[in-house]
Amino acid sequence: MAWEVKKFIEEKFSEVKKIVGDKNAVVATSGGVDSVACAFLAHKALGEKLTVVFIDDGLMREGEPTKVSEELGNLGVEVKIVNARDEFFKALKGIEDPEEKRKKFRDTFYKTLGKAVKENEASYLIQGTIAADVSETKKGIKTQHNVLEQIGIDPTDYGFQVIEPLREIYKPEVRDVARELGLPEEIHQRMPFPGPGLATRIIGEVNPQRVEMVRKATSIVEEEIKELKPFQALAVLMKDRATGMVEGKRVFGNIIVVRSVESKNAMTASVSKIPWEILEKIQQRITEEIPSVTKVLFDITPKPPSTIEYI
Ligand code: XMP
Repeated sequence: MAWEVKKFIEEKFSEVKKIVGDKNAVVATSGGVDSVACAFLAHKALGEKLTVVFIDDGLMREGEPTKVSEELGNLGVEVKIVNARDEFFKALKGIEDPEEKRKKFRDTFYKTLGKAVKENEASYLIQGTIAADVSETKKGIKTQHNVLEQIGIDPTDYGFQVIEPLREIYKPEVRDVARELGLPEEIHQRMPFPGPGLATRIIGEVNPQRVEMVRKATSIVEEEIKELKPFQALAVLMKDRATGMVEGKRVFGNIIVVRSVESKNAMTASVSKIPWEILEKIQQRITEEIPSVTKVLFDITPKPPSTIEYI
């Protein structure tokens, strides 16, 4: 069956309106295409009955909370920033196991949203979960931060019922929905960024110092690779270290991995063919701007057997 974006949006409008009725709802957005499309769809369907929140978990990219709230504000949607950094860092402290990290993230995310729902006297949480999130979680590949009911978790334990207007569609269709809703290209063609943020790019403990390191490296990679428009480009902080020389002294420094992939729907991915000069520039900037890094590697593994993120 051909994909009919207009019909899909109309159906979802009425579905959201009907379910929420005269109650209130909260939608969380991270600025990514899935959650922004979902927030706009819900905003158009519910108007004043909807509160849009941005959870500042301390795991976002440089300046992201302000950037996202300004961007959506300019498009007529007011965003409330909820500062929950301490809660997330406390929950993630000392945890190294990837799935345990993801589960702690998910639990803290929904507890924070539960509070927001209560404060706004809402009954529903509307979220931008898409088909790939559900399928990867159900297959046991990795726990996506925004999947609950499909794996037997009752959202009412967190104090709300969930509505997922995008749960049957994949990334390319989500981009069509965003375009059809009138969102600018800057949003509908935006590079995916995972819900658990930079925590998916840290091997070993997630703490503010380590997040800061990977945040800086991420900015450098995104800036230098931008013109190539890859599906997704990222930087990862390893737990291992490697000997290097800084100002003539031996340093047992950090290792950053650079990854860039091409994909349609994130279910499979190939490695981007990055010109050598760009890779060299990335290495130079990372080791200069983050002096504790003594080694920069480029990941040449497609998905499968790898996944895109590192946890
Ligand atoms: P993986 O690492 O599984 O990632 O190959 C596939 C795509 O999904 C993104 N990703 C997530 N998105 N919540 C999300 O909303 C998550 O928990 C999550 N984990 C991975 C990832 O960035 C890639 O685009």
